[in-house]
Amino acid sequence: MTRTSKQTASKIVKPGEDFEPWESHNRVPLPVIWIALALGVWGTALLFQDQSSYAVAQGDREADEVAAHDAPEGGEALFLANCSTCHQPNGVGVRLAVPPLQDSEFAKAGPEVVAQIVLRGIDGPIRVKGFTFDGHMPSFAAALDDGEVAQLASYVAGRFGDADAALGRDQVAELRAAHAGSGSWQGGEELAGLVPGLPAQPAMPAMAQAGPDPAISDLIFAGRGDVWSCASCHGGLGQGAENTPRLAGLSQGYIAKQLQDFREGERQNEHMSFVAKGLSDSEIEGLAVYYAGLRVDSTAQPALGGDLARGERIALQGDWSLGVPACFSCHGPSGFGVGADFPALAAQQPAYLASQLAAWAGGHRNNSPLGLMDRISEALPESDRRAVADYLASLPAVPPTEQKAMARIEGGGDEL
Ligand code: HEC
Ligand code: HEC
Ligand code: HEC
Repeated sequence: MTRTSKQTASKIVKPGEDFEPWESHNRVPLPVIWIALALGVWGTALLFQDQSSYAVAQGDREADEVAAHDAPEGGEALFLANCSTCHQPNGVGVRLAVPPLQDSEFAKAGPEVVAQIVLRGIDGPIRVKGFTFDGHMPSFAAALDDGEVAQLASYVAGRFGDADAALGRDQVAELRAAHAGSGSWQGGEELAGLVPGLPAQPAMPAMAQAGPDPAISDLIFAGRGDVWSCASCHGGLGQGAENTPRLAGLSQGYIAKQLQDFREGERQNEHMSFVAKGLSDSEIEGLAVYYAGLRVDSTAQPALGGDLARGERIALQGDWSLGVPACFSCHGPSGFGVGADFPALAAQQPAYLASQLAAWAGGHRNNSPLGLMDRISEALPESDRRAVADYLASLPAVPPTEQKAMARIEGGGDEL
């Protein structure tokens, strides 16, 4: 189940593949054509220069052929289903984004190390084959059982690290128990304790270690007077539930605006209006920075019985017969949000999403700039609202690289 949705999601995420912006129905202005031509020439030049990305594409094709003809089993099948979208079918990774497994120090360290990485995932910077990466590798503890992790880790260490030791199911069970509740590995710095002789690893950034300002942290986890603890409703990780939205990874500017809107009465909600009235401007800023920087995998799942294929269509293409533009034309390809004004929708709680669409349609929420969301929501029948909400809930959360890019844009102080 987890694996299928991950696969569908990764298909959708690829920018430019099926994504059809609604503007394309208008006449294309001349400067846009020039830019497109220039980009085309540049892209072609890059393709010839950049041997590694060519190798990646080539590897993709080869592995697709292998997958089609020989129907791999065991460790190889598990690798193709769970790891190859990021690390690539031939294990070379993606330049500047995902480290290679082929000949990596970690694959060479053997299946036990690989299994511990698969079980916990990694956050923070890591150095692999002389290059530094700073991404996020998810944990597979919930998706794979002990036997699967054992097969997968033995396969990865054998194929990419030339390590011939094989790992058993019982050993994985022990590793799983030993690491339960430890969270992600904190970059190469923490992994160095696991792999002796590793080349020097980058230090975790001080901010991630220090956590939020203690006063903000108190507001979040303990509350103060009328400002009830945010975590008591939004969850300890800002993951949300049902009618309470996920806050983790929404942009700083959007979170701050919503809190101001609740405080000033521009947006109404019994609980939030009450909470926000007790917050100062600087507390709103601190809370927005904290939640915008949280990296938390999606906990949302389709729950409204919506038609996912219909939802995908509305999100990617809109529905002209209803006069509804593609959601992603404003909320960004993959629903990861754009700048401070267009919030991320991917991985948002479906009941909350549907409730907001209903609130706009019914005139209960009216704080969207230029009333953009009001008309769109009115035009969508109830079944379509459930369909699109369920579809959005099936998408992966905004990846840390996007979060960082967003923070950089917002750091520049412009509002888009
Ligand atoms: C969503 C993308 C993604 C998926 C899926 C993924 N990884 Fe990773 N993996 C990464 C990233 C990114 C890093 C580097 C982590 C960092 O920068 O903090 C990494 C690091 C690693 C490392 C240590 C560095 C290296 O290159 O040797 C190993 C080993 C690894 N992954 C194995 C796996 C295996 C096995 C699977 C399949 C179960 C898997 N990964 C699935 C993204 C992914
Ligand atoms: C009593 C439960 C409760 C508490 C406590 C609470 N919230 Fe909320 N929050 C909600 C609900 C419910 C909503 C959705 C409101 C709606 O439906 O319009 C919400 C909405 C929000 C939103 C808007 C998100 C979006 O996607 O538009 C933000 C931002 C937010 N809360 C931040 C906070 C912060 C920060 C705190 C702590 C200072 C906090 N909340 C405390 C229940 C709570
Ligand atoms: C023309 C641009 C535009 C399009 C198209 C658009 N949106 Fe929005 N949407 C916005 C803006 C702007 C906001 C932020 C409102 C605010 O600041 O309060 C928003 C907010 C939202 C929110 C609230 C998120 C939250 O965390 O509270 C939801 C839900 C939403 N949109 C769903 C959709 C869906 C579903 C579609 C497609 C059917 C869609 N939007 C299409 C502009 C757009």
